[in-house]
Amino acid sequence: MTITSNLSLKQAQQLDAEDPLRHFRDEFIIPTKADLKSKTLSRPGKSIQEFLQQWAIKGVYGHFVDHDDAILPSFLHGDDAAAKLLAPIVGANVQEVSAMETLTANLHLLMASFYQPTKEKHKIILEGKAFPSDHYAVYSQIRHHGFDPDDAMILITPNGDKATMTTEHILSIIDKHAAETAFILLPGIQYYTGQLLDIATITAHAHSHNIPICWDLAHAVGNVELSLHNWNVDCAAWCTYKYLNAGPGAIAGLFVHEKHGTVTEATDGSGGLLYRPRLSGWWGGDKGVRFEMGPHFKPRPGAAGFQVGNTSALAIAGLLPALKIFNRTSMAEIRKKSMRITQYLQDLLLEPTGDGQPLPYKILTPSDPEARGAQLSVKLDMGLLDHVLEGLEDAGVVIDERKPDVIRVAPAPIYNSYEDCWKFAQIFRPLAFKAKSRS
Ligand SMILES: Cc1ncc(COP(=O)(O)O)c(C=O)c1O
Repeated sequence: MTITSNLSLKQAQQLDAEDPLRHFRDEFIIPTKADLKSKTLSRPGKSIQEFLQQWAIKGVYGHFVDHDDAILPSFLHGDDAAAKLLAPIVGANVQEVSAMETLTANLHLLMASFYQPTKEKHKIILEGKAFPSDHYAVYSQIRHHGFDPDDAMILITPNGDKATMTTEHILSIIDKHAAETAFILLPGIQYYTGQLLDIATITAHAHSHNIPICWDLAHAVGNVELSLHNWNVDCAAWCTYKYLNAGPGAIAGLFVHEKHGTVTEATDGSGGLLYRPRLSGWWGGDKGVRFEMGPHFKPRPGAAGFQVGNTSALAIAGLLPALKIFNRTSMAEIRKKSMRITQYLQDLLLEPTGDGQPLPYKILTPSDPEARGAQLSVKLDMGLLDHVLEGLEDAGVVIDERKPDVIRVAPAPIYNSYEDCWKFAQIFRPLAFKAKSRS
């Protein structure tokens, strides 16, 4: 049985030599096998050290003081620096994005503003296999408004025996429940299957029924090209610790379309302000008067006005270097490589064996490059996962698993090479066949 690849190492190295993004790999620390086993840390990060220095030599004045040689802004303006770098990554105006909170907290903040149920129209459409946190957040919002989640959660499941959902199917569910639906929450890329949804079409369809729609972009941001502003998306939230590399629990992102972020003076002469209702806190308030400590909330226009508490300057220090890397290229360039390298990985994984033996796994992710990002979800034959994971760990491969039988492999274009993919296939395929032969 031939399970090694006909696609040669030389060919992978040639593809790497032609890759215009290859130099970015040098900006990353790829854990070695020894690192993964190491009990000690040895490489402190520069940006975090700088934050500590700001704090050490300025204390609370660090909110306002800029240093000539600093790569970080003063604490007060870290949020704006992050928004500026986030905007091109998600296809938004700077005012439409904010670096804040965690993804789940941001979903709650967005629902507090955009989910405004009435007795007749109080349902939320989401997908049946939504990331659990999204499911819990929606469930609790519905209860918070006094409705019954069993009745009010409309779950979209794939049609037929497919792992993925067609756009037509999603649109038909929206049509069916539109009259009683107050809000839609969907993932840009489905975390389990890696399916990229047609955000523009689904958003337009939701709007044709006057339903606000929110996108969970955890797996889409930094992975695929997004045009949140032009697609007229109402609101979105994402974390920065997947393709954006900012580290576990890193500060998250929030998008509110400019049409929803306006702050205007009331025309009735009352001196009051008109703005979208929200759960407010002082960090969403106008910077010019924030430290005057007045009792009246005057929100900053745009997504920044949805901030609540003081944004962690330490968290921003961890985020900015991650975003700067993306701003030195473009999502168009990243996506170009992503499509190529993901296809290459798929070719390696699906290469037939010499003797026609069936593969002990299949790929759940759509094979159409337009309907996926960099992730391939590989579903192993039942019972093989533990053996395969053990072997991968021994070989120093860092991989994500979803029990009982799926691994998610993502050639992140900003730092993964074609050679990485080639090596992965050389390790993974024999392991899968070996596990199969034992089962
Ligand atoms: C699709 C999706 N939604 C929500 C979350 C929760 O994110 P957080 O823990 O930042 O709230 C995650 C985390 O992995 C996720 O993948």
